[in-house]
Amino acid sequence: MTTDPLLALRQVGHSFGGLAVLRSVTFDVPEGGIVGLIGPNGSGKTTLFNIVSGYIRPLAGTIDYRGASIAGSSIQQRGLAGLVRTFQTPQVFEQMTVLENIMVGCTKLTRTNMLQDLLRTPAARAQMQEIRRRAEAACERFRLGALADLPAASLTAGQRRILEIARAVVGEPRLLLLDEPSSGLNAQEIENLRDWIVRLNEEGITVLLVSHDMGLMTVAHTVHTLYFGEIIASGDMAAIQRDARVREVYLGV
Ligand SMILES: Nc1ncnc2c1ncn2[C@@H]1O[C@H](COP(=O)(O)OP(=O)(O)OP(=O)(O)O)[C@@H](O)[C@H]1O
Ligand SMILES: [Mg+2]
Repeated sequence: MTTDPLLALRQVGHSFGGLAVLRSVTFDVPEGGIVGLIGPNGSGKTTLFNIVSGYIRPLAGTIDYRGASIAGSSIQQRGLAGLVRTFQTPQVFEQMTVLENIMVGCTKLTRTNMLQDLLRTPAARAQMQEIRRRAEAACERFRLGALADLPAASLTAGQRRILEIARAVVGEPRLLLLDEPSSGLNAQEIENLRDWIVRLNEEGITVLLVSHDMGLMTVAHTVHTLYFGEIIASGDMAAIQRDARVREVYLGV
């Protein structure tokens, strides 16, 4: 018996102003896997993330998530279905505290409607307490506890990355898309990030990872290489590093 991949991209294409940035991109992300995406600057990695997460509608191709097309789903609907992303430049609410930032990631758990929230019904209050409790637990888990009441603006680059991941994880993702999570991090922070990715994957979260960091990329079971919007090589990291075309166009060796 074969099971559907969690995410299946088929012949995905996109262009901006007539310039093709993705051409016929086809690959699967199996449930429980860690799939990597590498490629030179401008090769289309973030555009692909924008398409999968619903920020951009592709001009060609299909995307199935959990066995069904998500072409008609909004960003929010995809998030509710467990498809959650982080951004190349961490998107944190600067003026809000670390804890409040993580609480934003819990909105998926919101069951009462807006009117109830405005009326501050007991149900809405109980729900807010539950969201706070979960966010506090996530703060502790991701070692942000001591920073919980500080504005996000005061965090270092490494702490912001972890905050973004904590906010994504508290929303209980099934597929986590990480766009260059190691950029701006030092070696120790990248090691820490690597541990988190492995741990979250072991807990059942499927990961699609974009990174220029070849050390971090070794967490991926399969890596696809994009070059001018086209996949030119796929395989495990060892095979990718041996691939003549990848060495020439990306690794520069
Ligand atoms: N909104 C946009 N309008 C026009 N062109 C765009 C837009 N977004 C991206 N591009 C162009 O599409 C191409 C792919 O960009 P994209 O950001 O997807 O690449 P990337 O692989 O993520 O690069 P990097 O490694 O630098 O993050 C680039 O040539 C970029 O300039
Ligand atoms: Mg990018």
